[in-house]
Amino acid sequence: MKTVGVVMGSASDVSVMEGAIEVLREFGVPVEVRVLSAHRTPDDALQFARDAADRGFGALIAGAGKAAHLAGVLAAVTSLPVIGVPIASGDLGGLDALLAMVQMPPGVPVATVAVDGARNAGLLAVRILALSEDGLSAAYDKFRHGMAAKVRAADEGIRARYEDGGGGGS
Ligand code: RP5
Repeated sequence: MKTVGVVMGSASDVSVMEGAIEVLREFGVPVEVRVLSAHRTPDDALQFARDAADRGFGALIAGAGKAAHLAGVLAAVTSLPVIGVPIASGDLGGLDALLAMVQMPPGVPVATVAVDGARNAGLLAVRILALSEDGLSAAYDKFRHGMAAKVRAADEGIRARYEDGGGGGS
C-alpha cells in the first residue's frame, strides 16, 4: 500500500495533526510524519516533496498555521495530491492559514479542509488511496455505514426522549 506523508510546519502543530495520523492508522495506512517548514527549512520541504512519488507516497497532508505556505510549496513540486490543514495557531484563529492555503493559483491545487480539520484530511487521503486499494475501499464503506448506524441510533434516542404523543404543538 502507498504511504501518506503527514507534514507540519512546526512541532507546535502536532496535537492537531495527530487527528490525521490516528485515522490513517485506524485504516492501516502507512504514515511518515515530518516537521518541514516552508519558511524555516524550505530546501528540506522541497526535497521531501520532489522525492515523495518515487519513495512510494500516494498523497501528502500538510498542516501549517499563520502564513501557511507549506501545502502550496509541496504541491508546486509534486504531482501527488496534496491536502492542506489550516491550523489555528495565531491571533487570527486560523483564518490567516485558511486563506493562505485555499487561495491557490490555478494550476497548483491544494485540497484544503476546515481549520484544524486534520481528521478529515486523513479520511480524504484514505479515499484517494482507496481508488487503487480494494481492501481500503471496503473498509471505508464499513466506516461510513458505521457512522450512519450511530446517527440512526441517536435519531431514535432523541425522538423517543421528546415524543409527547401530541404532534409537537405548543
Ligand atoms: C507556522 O507557524 C507553523 O505551522 C505553526 O503553526 C506556526 C507557529 O510556529 P512556531 O512558532 O510554534 O514554531 O509556520
